[in-house]
Amino acid sequence: MSESWPTSGVDLHLELDPATGRRTGLEQALRAAIQAGRLAPRARLPATRRLAAELGLSRGTVKAAYDQLVAEGYLTARQGSGTVVAGLPGRQAGDPHGPSGPVDVQPRHDLRPGRPDPSAFPTAAWLRSARRALGAASADAYTYGDPRGRIELRTALAGYLGRTRGVLASPDQIVITNGYVQALALLTRVLGESAPAVIATEDPGVAFHREVIRHHGSQVVPIPVDDRGARTDLLGGPGFPRVGAVELTPAHQYPTGRTLDPERRRALVDWARSGDRLVIENDYDGEFRYDRQPIGAIQGTAPDHVAYVGTVSKTLGPALRLGWIVAPRHLLRPLAEAKRHHDHHTESLGQLALADFIARHAYDRHIRACRLRYKRRRDLLLARLRSRSRPPSGLAVHGIAAGLHALIGLPSGGPTEQDVLDAAAARDVALGRLGDRWHEPGDRPQGVIVGFGTPNEHAYPAALDALTRVLDACGP
Ligand SMILES: Cc1ncc(COP(=O)(O)O)c(C=O)c1O
Repeated sequence: MSESWPTSGVDLHLELDPATGRRTGLEQALRAAIQAGRLAPRARLPATRRLAAELGLSRGTVKAAYDQLVAEGYLTARQGSGTVVAGLPGRQAGDPHGPSGPVDVQPRHDLRPGRPDPSAFPTAAWLRSARRALGAASADAYTYGDPRGRIELRTALAGYLGRTRGVLASPDQIVITNGYVQALALLTRVLGESAPAVIATEDPGVAFHREVIRHHGSQVVPIPVDDRGARTDLLGGPGFPRVGAVELTPAHQYPTGRTLDPERRRALVDWARSGDRLVIENDYDGEFRYDRQPIGAIQGTAPDHVAYVGTVSKTLGPALRLGWIVAPRHLLRPLAEAKRHHDHHTESLGQLALADFIARHAYDRHIRACRLRYKRRRDLLLARLRSRSRPPSGLAVHGIAAGLHALIGLPSGGPTEQDVLDAAAARDVALGRLGDRWHEPGDRPQGVIVGFGTPNEHAYPAALDALTRVLDACGP
């Protein structure tokens, strides 16, 4: 059966497969239209009564199909505004932390790590900040500015980072960047100005960040990670390569979730101080710690040797492309020059909106709300994993005290990562693979990474059901 109806003025052609049940057929046709992008995010669907009449189905059938797609995250039902296509684009970039690859298709259950829930974006509060900031902005906001970024944002950040993360910063020490990835690129360029730098990065760690360092002309060597975080005790020791910088995630190691042990923090700072060396502190999700006080930044203990980098990618969303470096003073001029050569400076209007958002404490309020939301999700994930009675047993869950992902270590007797990923692919569940995070492939511990931030609130329980089915299917 093939039907068309107008959705907000747009005609949509639907193919209902006569061989499938009516409700299933309608679900499949809607899913296909959303995946193909023919039904765009925020497109409004017809009222159930009208669609039922047009397709010759009962209203209950249409309602059941809508409910199912709401549960799966394809649709959103809002009191008073009907049913709309959820804000999931038909196609999205792949796992941001795996090796870079082609653009892939949006999975039905998106448990890839590295992304917050895009539907949690505080649209109303952001609009108020943007309106206020643009209303107050002088004409210079619309021309080229300081390569370090807007003074309003640097001032707001200096206060915020000192208060919440123990970072020692004055506004003139901050360089606003297009997210963490540009901060890393700029730091790599500056470190390699006279000769290619050698930078140690965590193993396992973020594959894309290794690529970025190499792309900007420096060399990467692995620093192993154990249950006390990165092995900073090895730095400068016999057998460890001579490196000029270490890039690491001390508050919540990516992807193992370990916190850098106090002794290791001391070893890191001693190593950096004993030579002209730099620590690149990646504080990508330091705001989201659930069970105790946040771990303060290392930068506060060694501001002359640490480039502290933060980002809004986890708190507000990666689409904003806003991050910051709090740099040691001797790096400020070269960093500002590198930024100017890259792109003059980061886009100003978003910076002004964020400055207002932070200064009015809307950022604090938003982070507090998100912390509760993600903690609930984390607790739900743990409860689900604990209540499973089926094989495989012996799953170890790591890194759940903070952040938006958990690492599930797989038992040595199997299943393997590939078994779990195959079972996940068969159920349209997307997960991260620990294997992609090692510097070199080999006989490594096996694990999968579950990002519990990404699905919207409606879709999360269904994603957890699907994950449970994946693990149940992986038994011996
Ligand atoms: C380990 C790690 N570093 C950095 C980032 C942020 O990168 P960016 O600010 O470039 O979006 C993320 C975010 O997803 C991350 O997981």
